[in-house]
Amino acid sequence: MVSRVIPVETFDLVIFGGTGDLARRKILPGLFRRFCAEQMGGDSRIVGAARSEMDRDAYRSFAREAIAEFDPDAAGHETHLETFLDRLDYVTIDARGETGWEDLAALVRPEVIRAFYFSVAPSLFGDLAERLHRHGMDCDNCRVVVEKPFGRDLESARALNRTIATYFDEHQIYRIDHYLGKETVQNLMAIRFGNMLFEPLWNSQYVDHIQITVAEEVGVGGRGEYYDRAGAMRDMMQNHMMQLLCLIAMEPPAKFEPDAVRDEKLKVIRALDHVPSTDIVRGQYEGSGDCPGYRHQVGNRDSNTESFVALRAHISNWRWAGTPFYLRTGKRLRERASEIAIVFKDAPHSIFGAEAGRHRNILTIRLQPNEGIELGVTIKEPGPGGMRLIDVPLDMSFAEALGPEDADFPDAYERLIMDVIRGNQTLFMRGDEVEAAWAWADPIIAAWEREEAQPLPYAAGSAGPDDALMLMHRDGRRWREVKA
Ligand code: BG6
Repeated sequence: MVSRVIPVETFDLVIFGGTGDLARRKILPGLFRRFCAEQMGGDSRIVGAARSEMDRDAYRSFAREAIAEFDPDAAGHETHLETFLDRLDYVTIDARGETGWEDLAALVRPEVIRAFYFSVAPSLFGDLAERLHRHGMDCDNCRVVVEKPFGRDLESARALNRTIATYFDEHQIYRIDHYLGKETVQNLMAIRFGNMLFEPLWNSQYVDHIQITVAEEVGVGGRGEYYDRAGAMRDMMQNHMMQLLCLIAMEPPAKFEPDAVRDEKLKVIRALDHVPSTDIVRGQYEGSGDCPGYRHQVGNRDSNTESFVALRAHISNWRWAGTPFYLRTGKRLRERASEIAIVFKDAPHSIFGAEAGRHRNILTIRLQPNEGIELGVTIKEPGPGGMRLIDVPLDMSFAEALGPEDADFPDAYERLIMDVIRGNQTLFMRGDEVEAAWAWADPIIAAWEREEAQPLPYAAGSAGPDDALMLMHRDGRRWREVKA
């Protein structure tokens, strides 16, 4: 298989927060990889903009170090690196003052695509947008890219949408949910809408329930201050998990086009029922051995923030009425493993009698790591002695099926930044989608705050609190053991 890389048009990309963590870990290394793949066309340029006093050479050194640290293949691309670094510039800028704005306006070229990446605290979005406008940089071929968290509730998300909308049209706003940039997440759409096999069965008549698990091995690390104000519900459930749910549950869009896809996702979010507190389990990890517990890591001994959440969701529409969706995500779990399992119903009648046992097909889509698909199929257990049935997996690892070169998936940010330049919003969240997701999450969070709910402790390295198991057991179901 030959991968087709189509160079994008010439652009100037300004990274506000150019010396920040995201620029260092994801944006600069991602752009470098796209450059090596010859996708960064023409004489495109990248301008770091931040408060730190530094000149162009110092920024280039910063980028060189970031790439060496976060791009595992950088060592093999020394010559590319020098040419790439030549494309970098830097402006010291004050988001709330006047410093640097004239310099920036002189640097970005009016005749090429301009993208402004707001990799800063959301409280600065309005200041940046207003100054871009005031200094004449908000022309029609420009885009703004905004990172999560996009608000912390419906009201703040609405306020952010309104602020940005004062200066930019919706078609210029790219709200990032990096899960949508993951190859395997996009594959959910390819699997559903590229095959005839699954779609006729993709409804409550055939599907018993769906499980979505995003498990992380890491804890909150150095992000304790942010995380303790967010928790798993705001950090993962309202956005990444919600997007996965939408892609699994939505109706087929007529076209793979931004509004067609986003309209269908929005309908799913709006059809979600309120989740009562009896259908939710919150957890917080405890320390074990050398691993500090959550409260220690965030420096808040009384914290009631959850680092784990599991819930049962219902979508009230014709396709899904009666099929529960079980979602769980957490930090400091046994291992980093994310998957979606579509658990089909039992055959309506077993011709093999009770002794053949109960069997059901499960379609599992492994999102990370070891990306792939597995379909559990029931067959006859070999050998004499009657008809006994067993379930065996039809297992396809993408790496094995595609070969190492084609299964070398680009990082989500690489794909998304190139989509910004291409002007393709399909994998970005529309304002109304974000607001609808908050409208669903808000009452859940409000109930916790009202009741001063305490998260249940769970041991680091476990599968989360036992009550999360009970959430399914009481329905006569169980979580699949998710393995890396
Ligand atoms: C981020 C969250 O959006 O996603 C983090 O803020 C989380 O807390 C991360 O660790 C998970 O992303 P990935 O790509 O590692 O699954």
